[in-house]
Amino acid sequence: MVAAVGHKLQMRIEWGWPPEPEWFDHAIDLYYQWHQTRNPLWLERGCYSLLALRDRGKALELCCGDGFNACHSSKASQLVAVDFNSQAIRHAQQVNWAPNVEFRVCDIRKEMPEGDFDNIIWDAAIEHFTPAEISTVMQRIKQRLGSCGILSGYTIVEKPEWGKQLSHHEYEFKSKDDLSRFLEPYFKNVKVFETIYASRHNLYFYASDGVLPFDSAWKSQLVSNQP
Ligand SMILES: C[S@@+](CC[C@H](N)C(=O)[O-])C[C@H]1O[C@@H](n2cnc3c(N)ncnc32)[C@H](O)[C@@H]1O
Repeated sequence: MVAAVGHKLQMRIEWGWPPEPEWFDHAIDLYYQWHQTRNPLWLERGCYSLLALRDRGKALELCCGDGFNACHSSKASQLVAVDFNSQAIRHAQQVNWAPNVEFRVCDIRKEMPEGDFDNIIWDAAIEHFTPAEISTVMQRIKQRLGSCGILSGYTIVEKPEWGKQLSHHEYEFKSKDDLSRFLEPYFKNVKVFETIYASRHNLYFYASDGVLPFDSAWKSQLVSNQP
């Protein structure tokens, strides 16, 4: 109850007037909004990306914001999570750090952590980039994923009647096909699927040169090393 009141207040202060922040503290979802709405869309992206994670693999999360999805480190052996907002990274380090998670400040338009990764996660952020920037980032992603590595992520469909859904958005996708066209030049296999709520039309994506979740050849893996 006290947590709900506190997070309601936090939401009013952070989101009540412009400029809106570019990242969201998911403790507001957890302790306040969930009880108000019972709307699970904020959890969907974490679950869908978790499905794609290689058990004990090495994962890179792009644009991690508050680091809420560092819970992926329960399945990955190592998670590197980056964001260009140093305040978000400081918050992530304080609230969502784990021994196998490394949070780093990094502008992925200019650079990306080096190395080979089994999974790259790009949730709620591809819409913050222009089409030209997306293509630069995709090339860097492709260089870091092995032949079976999987890119997974989440974005929204534009609502022309609303205007931009967040002032920081550079490009809101028109449809599943519109998003696929950004992935297909880089990956042999692309899967885009959607969930639709009154407040948001969501797109989820998997892309790889190997097998994807829900393919007939996909082998289910342990979801978490926690009991
Ligand atoms: C809507 S938040 C999403 C955060 C988190 N992935 C989630 O699912 O809640 C978008 C994030 O993208 C980050 N971002 C935007 N442009 C970026 C860039 N060029 N390099 C790194 N991070 C960026 C923002 O700082 C912000 O944290």
